[in-house]
Amino acid sequence: MRPTILLVGLGGLGSVILELLCRERGLEARIVVATRRAGRGLARCNLARLGALAQGFAPDVSFLPLDLEDGDSVAGLVQQLSPDLLLSTATMQTWWLPDLLPPGPAAAIRSAGFGVWLPVHLSLTLKLMRALRAGGYVGLTLTAPFPDAINCVLGRLGLAPTCGVGNLDEIVPKVRWLAARQLGVPLASVRVLLVAHHALERYALAPPGRGPAGEVPPYFLRVEYDGEDVTEALLADELLLSPYPVSGGPPSHFLTAGSTVRLLRALLAKEETLLHAPGPHGLPGGYPVIAGRGQLRLAPIEGLSPEEAVSINERSHRFDGIERIEPDGTVVFVPESADVLRRELGYDCPRLHPDEAAGRAEELSARFRAYAARHGVDLP
Ligand SMILES: NC(=O)c1ccc[n+]([C@@H]2O[C@H](COP(=O)([O-])OP(=O)(O)OC[C@H]3O[C@@H](n4cnc5c(N)ncnc54)[C@H](OP(=O)(O)O)[C@@H]3O)[C@@H](O)[C@H]2O)c1
Repeated sequence: MRPTILLVGLGGLGSVILELLCRERGLEARIVVATRRAGRGLARCNLARLGALAQGFAPDVSFLPLDLEDGDSVAGLVQQLSPDLLLSTATMQTWWLPDLLPPGPAAAIRSAGFGVWLPVHLSLTLKLMRALRAGGYVGLTLTAPFPDAINCVLGRLGLAPTCGVGNLDEIVPKVRWLAARQLGVPLASVRVLLVAHHALERYALAPPGRGPAGEVPPYFLRVEYDGEDVTEALLADELLLSPYPVSGGPPSHFLTAGSTVRLLRALLAKEETLLHAPGPHGLPGGYPVIAGRGQLRLAPIEGLSPEEAVSINERSHRFDGIERIEPDGTVVFVPESADVLRRELGYDCPRLHPDEAAGRAEELSARFRAYAARHGVDLP
């Protein structure tokens, strides 16, 4: 039977994932797209269908309006469609908006770290997971919004999705490609195992001389050539942190989407594949995972226990401005990060219980828009 894939959210990232899925060779799947703005969503689906047809593919893609604020509708939709896999990219505010500020305010806001935006990414994902639970959904669930921390919060509430997408798997191709080039061997003979948090990405994908200064978040890296450990011989840490500028903002959605489509296909395949995913089963940060036959588990790593891997990622949270995530899912922000938003936006949130996410997300988004307007920027 052909699997059904339900894509929830069709903004910048969701649209690129849709385009890639519609042109994915051999993907025999029904693709259903659901987002809030019906007119825009339908037109985007039509565009993806026509583009794929023009290129020689014939995807089965359809659109349904869906508002995640309406939990009953979400539960009803998953009961009606019974998807094999659901992928959500829905968020209250896209991640690259602070880049639109003038350099001074942009640098000030950036110094807080990405974690302070957690409420705008958590709010809808939490509503989605609660609605899926209410609807008795048992299929695979993949989430794009800041899975390194958010899936951990959801895990504390017993609502963990299967895993997140992107993030550390955006660093792995860089290391693998540079390693193969340096060794002068085929890419297929090189395997990379990386345990790392979202926070490492801006160190690994920085332009020359423009990477963040100071301490690097902890991580574990192993590079193998034909099954042999060549990490030290290759000076793989230097490869990982070597300057490697990539386009930021919306163009980078192609990187995330490429990784997402591969993960999605692996999960639906009959055989198992080793790849990388953030936030698997509610764990913090990202890990090598084995995906296939509708399941996902941590890949064993020689010389590193699962507990040690989790500890690496727990310790990395603070590089994103998150001090810790407590057993009830309360997120405690690094005081200096909370101070930045208090000073710049007048937003005072040193800690956040998941139940406060929706209200805090509205407040943070409104204060940020007012701040941008004060600096002469009319946000989209
Ligand atoms: N993990 C990674 O590697 C990675 C990489 C890039 C981005 N991200 C994350 O992915 C998420 C999406 O980013 P983006 O740039 O695509 O954001 P975006 O362009 O703002 O898109 C967000 C989408 O959410 C939808 N949405 C908002 N409220 C909704 C609701 N109540 N019900 C249903 N849908 C709703 C919007 O729908 P309408 O258009 O219908 O209003 C929109 O399609 C963000 O959290 C971002 O941080 C993750």
